[in-house]
Amino acid sequence: MENMELPPRPKLFDFHGVSMIHHFTDNWENIRNFQARPDDILIATYPKAGTTWVSYILDLLYFGQTAPERQTSLPIYERVPFLESDFHIIPPGTELADKLSTSPRLIKTHLPVQLVPKSFWEQNCRIVYVARNAKDNAVSYFHFDRMNQAHPEPGDWNNYLQRFMDGKMVFGSWYDHVTGWWERKQTHSKLHYVFYEDMVEDTRRELDRLCSFLGLSPSAEEKERVRGGVQFDTMKKNSMANYSTIPIMDIKISPFMRKGKVGDWKNHFTVAQSEQFDEDFKKKMKNTTVQFRTVV
Ligand code: A3P
Repeated sequence: MENMELPPRPKLFDFHGVSMIHHFTDNWENIRNFQARPDDILIATYPKAGTTWVSYILDLLYFGQTAPERQTSLPIYERVPFLESDFHIIPPGTELADKLSTSPRLIKTHLPVQLVPKSFWEQNCRIVYVARNAKDNAVSYFHFDRMNQAHPEPGDWNNYLQRFMDGKMVFGSWYDHVTGWWERKQTHSKLHYVFYEDMVEDTRRELDRLCSFLGLSPSAEEKERVRGGVQFDTMKKNSMANYSTIPIMDIKISPFMRKGKVGDWKNHFTVAQSEQFDEDFKKKMKNTTVQFRTVV
């Protein structure tokens, strides 16, 4: 894969009211008709909210002891298929998920709640949703779009931030995503809504909450092992977790495991950008009860 020619960067287009790129819509019929199983666990996030972190936690919780060989041989994107992805360099996410022989299957999606295949609701699957404050999420997404050839060119930071506020991002508006999933939590009791900031503040506590949601009771020793394995510095060095094996991502431009901090937005936003963002944020988020922290 190393010397493969990279395709041109894709363009954004409107897909059922959500900005998208073809990599996530090419396989739409199979995505729409995807057959979930009752014990599937869906990991849902807006991009850059901590998907890989939570995916790794769940993988270690379920398979760290029973299938330790996974840890050295299978990259995270093969252990936890990305449902809507169709990058042509590995099989589409639906196919990878169909082939998984593990139970439960861990499946990742960035789809806004209204586009999730109906079978996940019919099967009443457990869902872990991770949300991250908008400012850090935007910064992380900017650096990701710089290094990820499969996404549109980010352009300069100022224009990018405006695009973020306008919802013209791959997977659409952050505001609609986090609020849409928050509303769904009110009716789907098997949805655990986690904040990235809480995980950074106290990973042990969040691990406990996650286990209680999943109905797991690992020993204290096992929980410590999981916590150690998913620390930022450990994951950054782990080639099975840091996306260094994917040719469309150039980790020399910006590493996938970049900083892993809360509040890095302060190194990117000017005072004027921050004020404008906050004012716009209040308007867009006035009808929701979900609360975010931009510092811990
Ligand atoms: P930064 O770009 O701010 O560093 P996703 O997996 O949804 O694409 O999210 C990626 C973001 O989560 C990146 O944020 C990455 O560094 C951060 N991240 C990944 N693993 C982490 C960990 N173990 N602890 C803290 N942050 C982590």
